[in-house]
Amino acid sequence: MVFVRSEELLSGMCLARDIHFYDPSAAASVVMKTGQKLTDMQISQLCEAKLDGAYIDTVRSEVRIISSINQQIRDEAISNIHSLADNFIDSSKGVQKSDIDSIGSTTQELINNLSSHKDILVIIADLKMYDDYTYHHCLSVAIMSIAIGMEIGLTNEMLNELGLAGLLHDLGKVAIPIEIINKPGRLTPEEFEVIKQHPALAEKHLKERGLVNDNVCRAIVGHHEKLDGTGYPYHLKDNEIHPYAKILAVADVYDALTSNRPYRTPSPPNEAIEYIMGGIDTHFDERVVKAFLRKVAPFPTGSRVKLSNGETAYVIKNYPDQPLRPLIAVVGADKVYDLSFDMSCMSIVITQLIDEDQTNRTLINM
Ligand SMILES: [Fe+2]
Repeated sequence: MVFVRSEELLSGMCLARDIHFYDPSAAASVVMKTGQKLTDMQISQLCEAKLDGAYIDTVRSEVRIISSINQQIRDEAISNIHSLADNFIDSSKGVQKSDIDSIGSTTQELINNLSSHKDILVIIADLKMYDDYTYHHCLSVAIMSIAIGMEIGLTNEMLNELGLAGLLHDLGKVAIPIEIINKPGRLTPEEFEVIKQHPALAEKHLKERGLVNDNVCRAIVGHHEKLDGTGYPYHLKDNEIHPYAKILAVADVYDALTSNRPYRTPSPPNEAIEYIMGGIDTHFDERVVKAFLRKVAPFPTGSRVKLSNGETAYVIKNYPDQPLRPLIAVVGADKVYDLSFDMSCMSIVITQLIDEDQTNRTLINM
């Protein structure tokens, strides 16, 4: 399933999710059902209703659809991180130059993939697999960081360094006992001290072997540092933290909070965003957070949400700078709320994302 923008929809594409929207010209609510193949007339209707797009079933569609991050690149990235991590914990071997080269080419593929489909939303899959969490988390952090880096205007060389650092940032965790990493309860202070070693463990290993440059090393070791100096491992402050590390920090926290972990249920995307916004200038760099907010869509178009006034609504359109206040249509009523621009809706907030199929949690808007 991929998300396709309205202007990119073609007749013959098969809907992977129901679409509910309000058609202003007919003054009526319209439902298009999952499994339906779109016609030109329906596509015009969706465009006129200003829907961002629709979730399309790639298998049942009559046209070929290219996903932004294809499965092959995802699988390749995960497998490359796996073998590099295996060598990292094998004291007789260690990480090899060939491991870094493979991860480096994966990074370039991710960048190519993201930059060649700027008009399509990148779907970040939900991370539910505890065993593989670290690897999938590294991939998501790399994708999100590259997206932020592109928004900030980093060069291709910088994006390569940043993406590589994203893929490697939690490498040190594989050297920490899995019982501590996946502990279902609260960590003891001693256990937390062990966890806090992971950025420096990766830094030491990669530095000793001269496998990555200084920028990548500083990004990896700095991804848990905070602007006010309360982070770890070196309690670095604002200017001492590498700019890449500031990007990784936002992507890392967002992905960690919204993922399912043995010790807690995932936070809804809006809460994770509120947490990050609350940490501007103390934990997180404002410029990075602003770029992140322009890229992330916590309530993807088509998703169902619960409102503070008790109503349920469908998201019709996201605004780039207001990810928590999209345009929505109330279910079962011919009402549209523009949470960003309609003053009469200012008191209404989205309280919950009603995740119907649990397959996608977050979209990065490219
Ligand atoms: Fe980490």
